[in-house]
Amino acid sequence: MNKLFPKDFLWGGAISASQAEGAYLDDGKLPSTVDTMISGPYMERFASFGKDIDLDNNYYPSHNAIDFYHRYKEDIALFAEMGFKALRVSIAWTRIYPRGDENAPNEKGLQFYDDLFDEMKKYNIEPVVTIVHYDTPLYLADKYGGWKNREMIPYFEKYCKTIFERYKDKVKLWLNFNEINSMTFMGILGASMPVFRSSPDYFQSTYNAAHNMLVAAAIATKLCHEIIPDGQMGMMLAGQLIYAATCDPADEWQSLYENRRHYFFADVMMRGHYPAYTKRFYEENNITVDIQDGDLELLSENTCDFLAFSYYSTMTAKAQGEGASIGNMVTGFDNPYLKKSEWGWTTDPTGLRILMNNLYDRYEKPLFLVENGLGAKDEINEDGTINDDYRIDYLKQHIEAIKEAMDDGVETMGYLSWGCIDLVSCSSGEMSKRYGYIYVDVDDQGNGTFNRYKKKSFDWYKEVIKTDGGNI
Ligand code: BG6
Repeated sequence: MNKLFPKDFLWGGAISASQAEGAYLDDGKLPSTVDTMISGPYMERFASFGKDIDLDNNYYPSHNAIDFYHRYKEDIALFAEMGFKALRVSIAWTRIYPRGDENAPNEKGLQFYDDLFDEMKKYNIEPVVTIVHYDTPLYLADKYGGWKNREMIPYFEKYCKTIFERYKDKVKLWLNFNEINSMTFMGILGASMPVFRSSPDYFQSTYNAAHNMLVAAAIATKLCHEIIPDGQMGMMLAGQLIYAATCDPADEWQSLYENRRHYFFADVMMRGHYPAYTKRFYEENNITVDIQDGDLELLSENTCDFLAFSYYSTMTAKAQGEGASIGNMVTGFDNPYLKKSEWGWTTDPTGLRILMNNLYDRYEKPLFLVENGLGAKDEINEDGTINDDYRIDYLKQHIEAIKEAMDDGVETMGYLSWGCIDLVSCSSGEMSKRYGYIYVDVDDQGNGTFNRYKKKSFDWYKEVIKTDGGNI
């Protein structure tokens, strides 16, 4: 097998607006749902979602993030130095329509992304743009209760139309909702609504929100194809692979059942219809989805062009006993074969190869790995160097696994590592959970110079790209 990746393989990195930009009220922007989230342990951070912003008593990491809004030129020059072919960013909906329901878009917000895409173009870096990366306008989420309400759709449609028309000559690769399946494990964030698993209407709200988002995504695909004939729309799945904890058939069934909870979204967006297993699942969980006239046709006529996904780690499922999965919940039963990061995430490069093969067998459409990486604490040595060998090791193993999958026959568009520059963690709001090739001098409370420093992995990734993966 040829060791090298294809010449047109899209090497690069990925960030999102709320985790990098900061400037949360600059140039007309208003708060998004994520701007209400405090830093802190997972449960506290998620409990703050949608609550009033209380600057006197809380710290909100998205408000300044890494100040990409003002420093993007410096950052893009560093990405270009590494040889990036592509960069995934997201547009903050609240820069374009600050409340979400305005008649006209905010010109200053539109101009920011024009400038950003022009800067990338200077270095031939292809933009890969996420339309919503968890950051719905707070005003809309408050007023309508998030995506469980169908009234969100026309606002989203208008936002999509505006950005497609404005950037049609600059952006060809689009992603609709970041990790759409995350609404089933962190509903409040994924579906922008205040429903926790413990809520009595959890299933009903989540699967109605899912339907509304699937319809909205189909509308976005339709618009994208109409407005940007050479544009492509990808769906974005949080890549989950859930093994059976043992070869007990009951565990194997549990694993199939839980994997389907994630495939569900791709099944609809890539194949264009609700999968057969949905019927029983809805019946058993008393879910009634409000499917309106024309919805099913829209879904079937507007499937996605490629499947983008994130991949970090794998989980295991067990039907009974200690550590068993509860209902549809994966409880993170330990996998004795895998090591874990400081945040409890397993390292499993073979899982990536398996997942890629599974996804390609199932949909036969190109895959694009748009997030992968190791969150770790980095230290600056006295001489200013940062030796992140652990990160290089993780990335190397995963890039090798991608090549294996490609040699297995999986069509793969590219590899974008997550947080190519350190940014705010989504789950904890910490800065100290770092993913980058570039260190940003900011701590968990937002103190620091915001200066950027190259880590050891910076030169390593530069060499990987330069040699088409030959020198890994
Ligand atoms: C993905 C999200 O789930 O994982 C990113 O799309 C997120 O926004 C990434 O940052 C890593 O998760 P975390 O919690 O370590 O930031």
